Formats: sequence, C-alpha cells, structure tokens
Amino acid sequence: MAARINPSILSADFANMERDLQRISGADYVHVDVMDNHFVPNLTFGPQMVERVQATSPIPLDVHLMIEDPDRWAPQYAELGAFSVTFHAEAATAPVTLARRLRGLGARAGVALSPKTDVGAYLELLPEFDQVLIMTVEPGFGGQRFLPHVMPKLTQLRAAAERLGVDVWLQVDGGVTEETIAIAADAGADTFVAGSSVFGAEDAGAAITALRDAASAHLHGH
Ligand code: DX5
Ligand code: ZN
Repeated sequence: MAARINPSILSADFANMERDLQRISGADYVHVDVMDNHFVPNLTFGPQMVERVQATSPIPLDVHLMIEDPDRWAPQYAELGAFSVTFHAEAATAPVTLARRLRGLGARAGVALSPKTDVGAYLELLPEFDQVLIMTVEPGFGGQRFLPHVMPKLTQLRAAAERLGVDVWLQVDGGVTEETIAIAADAGADTFVAGSSVFGAEDAGAAITALRDAASAHLHGH
C-alpha cells in the first residue's frame, strides 16, 4: 500500500484557491482546516467556502474541524459531501454518537487528538471511527515544528487496531516533511497531512511524490 498524502490548503493562496487545488491534483485527499477562533486562536473558513472547495476540487475532501461544539456543527460538512469529517476529542460532548451520525450521512468519521490529549480512552473505541488524527503540532497554525514525543500514541493505536482487527486510518498532521514523515510512518501512521512542505515547494506535485515515496518505504505491513 502507498502512503496517503493530504495537502492542507491552510498553506494555499486563499485568493487563488482553484489554481492551488489544481496544483495538488496528484494527492490523495485535500485537507481542509476549519478553525473558529475559539477552539484554536485562528479563523479560516466555514461551510460556504468548504462547499465551493468541494465543488471545485479534483480530489475528495478530508475536513479537519478545529471548532467548539462539533456535535452541533460537524454534520453539515458530511451533508455537503466531504469524504471524511474529523472533529477534536477535546471539543466533542458525545464523540461516539457524533461519529455514528457522520457515518450515517455517508462520510468517514474521524477523531483528532491534540498533543496533550491521551489516546487511552479511544483504543477500545476504534471500531467506531474510520480515522484517528494525531496532531504533531499544537493545532491552529501551519509551519510549526513536528513534535516527535507524540509518536507512542501511534504505536498504541496501530497495536490496538491490529488486536481488534479494524481498518482505521492513522493520520498525522503538523510539521510533516520528507524527514519527519518517515518517523511517523515507522510509528504506525499511514495518512499524512502536509501544508507548508507542499505549497511552499516550487513543484507541489513533485513534493507530494517525494513525501509519498519517503513514507511508503516505512509503512507497516497493512
Ligand atoms: C494545523 C493544521 C494543519 C496545518 C499543517 O492546526 O491542522 O493541517 O495546515 O501545516 P504544516 O504542514 O505546515 O505543519
Ligand atoms: Zn489539519
């Protein structure tokens, strides 16, 4: 299996979104960071913008909600056709109920854990999710440095997924480069978000291929 590479349009040119979506057409999914200025100290875009990205993008949408009250606001992203909708564990009141609702609306359901959040409570819940996103920076901004100390969470998740026999994607987000991607793949990740390292490259397509190659050599046998 090849590693999945999901470029984050947080690092795109917001005034040239259609052009920048074309630049990453060779990627697997487009990662869309929704921020509400409350859960994180940054503000990006809401459902209207995401709907236009959905209509314009050549590849499916991987929506990452860094917002308060996802129990209330997440379903609309599934309704507009996002391939996956990931909400933060720290913000959700009833994560399993919400995941079931997202799946019922036809989206893959994901839960995201900030660096300080322990993974223990989610290990037995893995069958309820299609994806777990392990943050490798504090959520809120692109261009930060990868935090290797969260890698044991991926090791635990990979072991739990194998024990339970579930096909859950393990995603990392933050500071992913050609160097750090191998560390995350070694720890058990199979899906990689990259913002600045893709959009900051002269040739975004070549950067995606280089990331995919660097990770694929380190993927576990799954
Ligand atoms: C940060 C976002 C990330 C961000 C990653 O809160 O969730 O998706 O765009 O950007 P880089 O790859 O530049 O760290
Ligand atoms: Zn993200």
